[in-house]
Amino acid sequence: MDIQYIKTLFSEKFGCEGIHYAAPGRINLIGEHTDYNGGFVFPGAVVQGIHAIIQPNGTHKVRAYAADLNSYGEFSIEDEKGPSEMHFRYVFGVAREMIAQGIAVEGFDTVFCGDVPLGAGMSSSAALESCFAFALNDMFWENRIDKMTLAKIGQATEHKYVGVNCGIMDQFASVHGRKNCLMRLDCQSGAFEYFPWEPKGYRLVLVNSCVKHELVGSPYNDRRRSCERVAAAIAKTKSGVETLRDCSWSDLERVRQEVGEEDYRRARYVLGEVDRVLAVSDALNRGDYETVGQQMYATHEGLSKDYEVSCEEIDFLVETAKNLAVTGCRIMGGGFGGCTINLVKDEHYAAFVQKIPSAYKAKFGIDCKIIDVEIGDGARRIE
Ligand code: GLA
Repeated sequence: MDIQYIKTLFSEKFGCEGIHYAAPGRINLIGEHTDYNGGFVFPGAVVQGIHAIIQPNGTHKVRAYAADLNSYGEFSIEDEKGPSEMHFRYVFGVAREMIAQGIAVEGFDTVFCGDVPLGAGMSSSAALESCFAFALNDMFWENRIDKMTLAKIGQATEHKYVGVNCGIMDQFASVHGRKNCLMRLDCQSGAFEYFPWEPKGYRLVLVNSCVKHELVGSPYNDRRRSCERVAAAIAKTKSGVETLRDCSWSDLERVRQEVGEEDYRRARYVLGEVDRVLAVSDALNRGDYETVGQQMYATHEGLSKDYEVSCEEIDFLVETAKNLAVTGCRIMGGGFGGCTINLVKDEHYAAFVQKIPSAYKAKFGIDCKIIDVEIGDGARRIE
């Protein structure tokens, strides 16, 4: 990414120098669609992210330039409605949510750009939210807001300004990321640990299918509602149940008739995924990457068959990976396209990156993109 380019653009447009902030996208080793169910997730920040040059302008207006999209917008942070362009709504939403927290956010000028592929399930939107949440906290509040609250500000922006009822994983990872570490977050308690990620003899590789099936309505929000219905059914006869995390396998069996087959299968996936993250944590502590890989395939099976958030192209990439002796592979992120995440043994890497693109092209006529995962730092100010 050409940082000098956005710095120059900033001074040309606004006649001064700005401060440089950045926040990353993320990968997730395992623990998909568990965050809003109070389960565990296992993300890490990537080196790709959003970079922004920002400077307060002493008004109540934001003047923003999205360099990649060649899009300029002006909006007031005092206005309830805000801009209609989605890339500016993230910025506006973060500013509004910070004001709601009692922070005296003022207007600012900014130029931003990014290199997280859009629609790839790598959380480009969380990167944008975290970048501005971090920056506004630094510029207007001397970093008095803690990191978890910054992540929640990004999440609230998705809920209220974008309409996606996401969990906390993406914003958490973007804010807390640490170079060469994955993080296991317990989304119920908020407790998390860093796991150094230095697999000897293996590497993580993303394959971006370059498809995104935007279905009618909001399938992500629908999945979340299914899980909430099952938890509510169980809560009728068991006290202390707030999310599926509080439910056992026998609780689920008890309400199977009542909730119906579709919601039952959604919840069955989630309960299994909570168990799989714990199995992966144990396996990582032993350096047992074969088990990690098996659990990734099991996650994919659940996401594809029970949770139904995969698609033909991604299922093909997972099958092909299996045939190429890849240790573990699954769809990553919210679903319906985007990337697979692959745990690949060093000795299989060359064949993998050569054969996957040609097989995919032959089947669908689409060029996929190989992305070697590099785990980077979270949101930060760059001096
Ligand atoms: C999206 C959401 C996250 C999480 C994942 C699925 O990335 O933003 O909160 O639910 O999907 O694991």
